[in-house]
Amino acid sequence: TVSQDDWRLCYHVTPEANWMNDPNGFCMWNGEYHLFYQHHPYTPEWGPMHWAHVKSKDLVHWERMPIALAPSEWYDKDGCFSGSAIEKDEKLYLFYTGNQWTGPNQDTDLKQVQCIAISEDGIHFEKIKENPVILEVPEGDIHPFHFRDPKVWKKGDVYYCVLGSQTKNRIGQALLYRSSDLFDWEFVNVLAKGQGNQGYMWECPDLFQLDDKALLVMSPQGVHPEGDNYHNLHQSVAVIGHLNEESGKFTSEQWQTLDHGFDYYAPQTLIDDQGRRIVIAWMAMWESEMPEQKREWAGAMTIPRILSMEKEKLKIEPIPELASLRYDPIMYQEITVDQDRQLDGINGDCLEMKVTIAAKEANKFGLNLRMNESGTEYTTLAYDVAEEKILLDRSHSGKGPGGIRKAPLALQNGQLQLHLFIDRSSVEIFMQNGEMVMSARIYPGQGSTGIEFFSDTAIEIVQLEKWSLKQSV
Ligand code: FRU
Repeated sequence: TVSQDDWRLCYHVTPEANWMNDPNGFCMWNGEYHLFYQHHPYTPEWGPMHWAHVKSKDLVHWERMPIALAPSEWYDKDGCFSGSAIEKDEKLYLFYTGNQWTGPNQDTDLKQVQCIAISEDGIHFEKIKENPVILEVPEGDIHPFHFRDPKVWKKGDVYYCVLGSQTKNRIGQALLYRSSDLFDWEFVNVLAKGQGNQGYMWECPDLFQLDDKALLVMSPQGVHPEGDNYHNLHQSVAVIGHLNEESGKFTSEQWQTLDHGFDYYAPQTLIDDQGRRIVIAWMAMWESEMPEQKREWAGAMTIPRILSMEKEKLKIEPIPELASLRYDPIMYQEITVDQDRQLDGINGDCLEMKVTIAAKEANKFGLNLRMNESGTEYTTLAYDVAEEKILLDRSHSGKGPGGIRKAPLALQNGQLQLHLFIDRSSVEIFMQNGEMVMSARIYPGQGSTGIEFFSDTAIEIVQLEKWSLKQSV
């Protein structure tokens, strides 16, 4: 059934009602993908955190499951915070942070501990009696209570866990633990620590191998703007480097923003039965207004994306399974655009479009998405040839937060290749075959479904393919 709410996303996971933030426990278990998320089931605002649960056979069609975790014990009385999932002896183990406020000051009277819940059927989860399995913060220059978001994996016979942390004087860092049985955890060391403008807290760390590189994906808080970069208060980055498993030390070679748009936080990855490293993130931002709260829900997941390395660079692409939602294909070739131009059939609020544009002599060209009939509402994606930059502007998008995000992007053979996913209140734009992606929530009015191409001098739409997408969630 199609929802009456015209901001309700069609093929992205959203909460049925009320609040959502970080993806949790993203894993494959018994041949199915499981995804959990931070959820407050009673209001569309953040509150005592639960883990909501959805599952899927194809990462596209999601089935809602009962809530998996709720605050119930002394150690998680104020929230079951973010964490991960792993299989052991055919059972599904959830690792999460138990959050407790120990006094009236929410900033300082805090204790965070690491806990386990186990399921045999993938539906009901039981917190173990040994909880918390990590009760105290290790010794050293480690903040006493910002200690959360366990991500667990197995290599050989050893389980590893990476945790989000900060130093005592507030420099973001990630901690490495290991265990032979998932219950007894030994602190190895500080895996990596920020330098300079790399944030005061590293939330939701994830560590994995991609080709011959180790990637530490995490979400630093409080990175300051530098030129066009870091204009969101909350960032998500991949630190590309090497891991020495003996010493537990990570050497960082490169720091890369995972998404150059507005709304992308707390990404988590899994490796699936095809060996693909898939990432999903919260498509929202702590500091941003969320107009859907007035409609009794808040937050969404991005589409799942595949991470790979190509020539030492991280590539990010949409999962191919999304093609199963396509209908009504429309194709154009060799169209010259020398003024504002709309093309028959190229419009909608739930669609996928691939377009290759030859810049020719143009200096500035691009597209207006989700445009209304009078042309007063639109979201602009513009390419600036002289500056070699892509720009996403939601100043005229409708309701909700505005703003502009820019990022450096080179043309390839004079061309810009775009792969767009538009949903009822979101755009995700993949550029130059996975070189860069920008995501944004937008809140247009009903009927703002136009797509317009523009350019200062003639450009050529070399090839365009567009599909409407079916509802899948
Ligand atoms: C990140 C985060 C996590 C925490 C969770 C609480 O968005 O702050 O560090 O576990 O959200 O909901």
